[in-house]
Amino acid sequence: MDDVTNLTGRRIVVTGAASGIGRATAELFVRRGAGVVFIDRDAAVATVASAAGGAAGLVVDVADESAVTRVVAEAAAALGGIDGLVNSAGIDLVKSITDMTPAEWNRLLAVNLNGPFHVCRAAAPFLREASEATIVNVASGAGLVPLKHRTAYCASKAGLVMFTKSLAMELAPVRVNAFCPGIIDTPLFRLSFENEPDPDAELQRILDRYLIKRAATPEEAAHVVLFLSSRASSIMTGVALAGDAGRTFH
Ligand SMILES: NC(=O)c1ccc[n+]([C@@H]2O[C@H](COP(=O)([O-])OP(=O)(O)OC[C@H]3O[C@@H](n4cnc5c(N)ncnc54)[C@H](O)[C@@H]3O)[C@@H](O)[C@H]2O)c1
Repeated sequence: MDDVTNLTGRRIVVTGAASGIGRATAELFVRRGAGVVFIDRDAAVATVASAAGGAAGLVVDVADESAVTRVVAEAAAALGGIDGLVNSAGIDLVKSITDMTPAEWNRLLAVNLNGPFHVCRAAAPFLREASEATIVNVASGAGLVPLKHRTAYCASKAGLVMFTKSLAMELAPVRVNAFCPGIIDTPLFRLSFENEPDPDAELQRILDRYLIKRAATPEEAAHVVLFLSSRASSIMTGVALAGDAGRTFH
């Protein structure tokens, strides 16, 4: 059988690539043969990319539209085009609506929703020129089923799911899909319980929402992104694929 997840010859940009899901994805894609540009606001991305054998590690805040346009052009020049994009950069915020400031709300939306818009917009001309091009937006189970004290996060991820579906209609035959993770063991996830008065109890409370009661590894999440970025999912576009240990289907 063909190795449908082989990425040899593909030219892929991954945001949020200094940590967590984005990093594991970018590293896996290099191992699967792709040329990969790692992008992050964290300057550590250069070291991470170089250690993994990436084509480049570029620093940018995805909320900054003009800087994103410049960096995506730089990535395309380094790779000789772009035929794959993964938007994994994101932030979380656990706060009640009355505690949340408008600045916090705006920043979360600027990163989690405007960020993918900026990157997709800058990459679209390159993706349209390529054959079998893909975009994967890392949304969340929180974009499918709500969580308390996460109005901004849930709104950003639900917005990203519908952005993905609308963009799939516009960019076809470029395939555009969303991945909706549950809990993946990353710094972002750990922040959601480690500062609670009783972190162990809070972790248990979170795990109780899931049918499979463990946090997945970033590598497990990366394999779902690989599926959506490769020929393995060649007839899928406009989907919001939950990889969420069973939280959101019931
Ligand atoms: N970990 C989970 O349980 C989980 C669950 C559902 C969805 N997600 C989503 O997965 C994505 C990746 O999260 P993760 O868990 O790997 O977190 P992480 O914190 O390990 O990695 C996120 C990366 O994004 C980068 N980043 C943040 N803001 C940025 C910005 N403005 N510009 C550029 N880079 C920026 C960070 O520097 C970091 O390297 C996020 O979009 C998150 O919402 C995570």
